[in-house]
Amino acid sequence: MTTLTFHVEPGGALRGRLRVPGDKSISHRAIMLGSLAEGVTTITGFLEGEDCLATLNAFRAMGVRIDGPEQGSVVVHGVGLHGLTAPTGPLDMGNSGTSIRLMSGLLAGQAFDTVLTGDASLTRRPMRRVTEPLTNMGARIEATETGSAPLHLHGGQRLTGIDYPLPMASAQVKSCVLLAGLYAEGVTRVTEPAPTRDHTERMLEGFGYPVQREGNHTVSMTGGGRLQGTVIDVPSDISSAAFFLVGASIAPGSDLLLEHVGVNPTRTGVIDILRLMGADIEVLNPRLAGGEPVADLRVRSALLHGIAIPEELVPLAIDEFPALFIAAACAEGMTVLTGAEELRVKESDRIQVMADGLIALGVAAGPTADGMVIQGRGTLAGGTIASHGDHRIAMSFAMAALRAGGPVTIHDCANVNTSFPGFVTLARNTGLTLVESAG
Ligand code: S3P
Repeated sequence: MTTLTFHVEPGGALRGRLRVPGDKSISHRAIMLGSLAEGVTTITGFLEGEDCLATLNAFRAMGVRIDGPEQGSVVVHGVGLHGLTAPTGPLDMGNSGTSIRLMSGLLAGQAFDTVLTGDASLTRRPMRRVTEPLTNMGARIEATETGSAPLHLHGGQRLTGIDYPLPMASAQVKSCVLLAGLYAEGVTRVTEPAPTRDHTERMLEGFGYPVQREGNHTVSMTGGGRLQGTVIDVPSDISSAAFFLVGASIAPGSDLLLEHVGVNPTRTGVIDILRLMGADIEVLNPRLAGGEPVADLRVRSALLHGIAIPEELVPLAIDEFPALFIAAACAEGMTVLTGAEELRVKESDRIQVMADGLIALGVAAGPTADGMVIQGRGTLAGGTIASHGDHRIAMSFAMAALRAGGPVTIHDCANVNTSFPGFVTLARNTGLTLVESAG
């Protein structure tokens, strides 16, 4: 794999307007459901990052004709729920947890065998959370001894719907079980300990597949229906916008407009948490795009203060904590995060890796089993960061330079392309002094 280092000069402000790339979660699901639908699905705003391309290539390998992507436009010629064909080799999901977990659900119900694998990070991540419920439904899956990928899914099994209480708040596990439910006999019902992103449910409905919601925590569906091809306009990813929300909040003199950002209420925890810290974020021109709420976000710099982060916001901001930790480090006073043990099993252990990076920049950061305590002092030192190949760690520390006393060097940044191709250009265009070098 190519290695890449970011060198970011200290100081500056973020100004102007920008549109960050398409939502990663929605882009994955658009390819998956579009492939399994009858007829054509037209997608605009598709995220051409490596994670979503891994999903797209996997469906091509299973016989689906997919035109594009070309400037975010993709046309998927759906083959119907039973039209996929056996791939000739293992499907490589790269760095993408969403690809492997959601696809294990929909592949468990196929007539053919598949092997799902990925890179060094993905093959370390926990997969029992999906293999257990799928096995309960009647799937036959082999994993490694530690319960991780490669996953070998045996085709030709008869799946039956289950009533599954999720052990953790995970949209990937919920979606995996629901996608297996498309192939299961009877009703598949999932209950979450706390609401998580509901893009799968919304998109199933968009493809004409009935989904029942029972209160805020339970969703059910009946197998054996059909998906009808549709049109999907993917909003900008609030998880990518988050780096700019934090950067503009912490850098004095900033004023930034982020256009057409997805503001699904299961994703907006980052706005709520930053506002609780004193951030100045306006949600402008709210509207609907293809069943998903979108808005423009105006963010201006503000004096932030430390807070105890309400635990109910954790699943609604789960990918934004690397960026939020930078905000906390630049705030005055103590920020305490609890109830976020899931951060330890993301692309990296985001509690440990962020704490190490913050300490390298002179911040008093104390990792805990399920979160972090950060003593903000309003400024950071320059320093060198190991991102551990985690895209969100790399982009978060790039923003940290805006408030640092010296240059910030970040190693192992190539995976920024998994979720945010074009980050460097957009960051430079809005005010970050960032250069890349190989190695
Ligand atoms: C995602 C769900 C979350 C999130 C990931 C995308 C999804 O993972 O961290 O980036 O698209 O469903 P978990 O379900 O593991 O929390």
